[in-house]
Amino acid sequence: MPDAGRFSGKGVIVTGAARGIGEAVAERFVSEGARVLLVDVLPEVEATAARLGQPWLLQDVAAPGAGEAIAAAALGALGRIDVLVNNAGIGGSKRLEDSDDALIDRFLATNLAAVLKVTRGVLPHLPRPGGRIINVSSIFGITGYPGTTAYAVAKAGVAQFTRQLAGELAPEGILVNAVAPGLIATPMTTGHRQNALYTRLIVEGTPVERLGTPADIAGPVAFLASEDAAFVTGIVMPVDGGFLAARHGKI
Ligand SMILES: NC(=O)c1ccc[n+]([C@@H]2O[C@H](COP(=O)([O-])OP(=O)(O)OC[C@H]3O[C@@H](n4cnc5c(N)ncnc54)[C@H](O)[C@@H]3O)[C@@H](O)[C@H]2O)c1
Repeated sequence: MPDAGRFSGKGVIVTGAARGIGEAVAERFVSEGARVLLVDVLPEVEATAARLGQPWLLQDVAAPGAGEAIAAAALGALGRIDVLVNNAGIGGSKRLEDSDDALIDRFLATNLAAVLKVTRGVLPHLPRPGGRIINVSSIFGITGYPGTTAYAVAKAGVAQFTRQLAGELAPEGILVNAVAPGLIATPMTTGHRQNALYTRLIVEGTPVERLGTPADIAGPVAFLASEDAAFVTGIVMPVDGGFLAARHGKI
């Protein structure tokens, strides 16, 4: 449950915050007292930010200089940056044999390289000690799922980036963690949820017997940004209703 005031006085950046998981993460931080810069490439970010009473930035995370632009906007609007949530991402990748160069480049640029570059741009401004970075990977960055090659490889890269950066930054007092969501009901997965085979394998194969919601991800992200996680760094936390732990016994 939200803990009003837990992030009071903190400045938080959430990328991909116009909708879906990012919107829920931003809302959770606001409900716990933080000021949040909502970043997205979709113009809808303005309406989402207005609903939450927060500043916003229309920015493609994969564009050159995105990290520096996001940091400058956050410092201008929030005065400080305590937490960076790298959530922006695209879905709808394909089998390798159906992936042309443009598709591979787009997935690696948006879902992996932009996470490194945005983090590099924001990093100089995070407090030492106290800064937090939370990346959004995926269950498909941990286990294979045929048909989503470039996406899965990018998300595995995000998981390894999390471990790598945690080791580099822990001596400075900056903690770096990731969440690996299972299937969450967002605009990204509308098509997947209409696919009978996918639904059978992923939804019915999830031990808790339901889809996740964006709020299911927001809580663990807030935990990783909180003082309760002060001795946690370098983890990639599945938030997947048990999908990676065990297949549902009924299928
Ligand atoms: N929904 C799921 O089942 C699921 C599962 C595992 C991981 N994830 C990850 O969670 C994150 C959020 O996904 P979601 O399900 O909320 O999807 P979504 O499509 O609903 O939201 C993603 C947001 O990111 C923004 N975005 C995409 N590319 C961007 C760019 N280049 N620059 C700035 N913003 C950009 C989109 O405009 C959108 O607002 C993604 O990284 C996704 O890969 C989602």
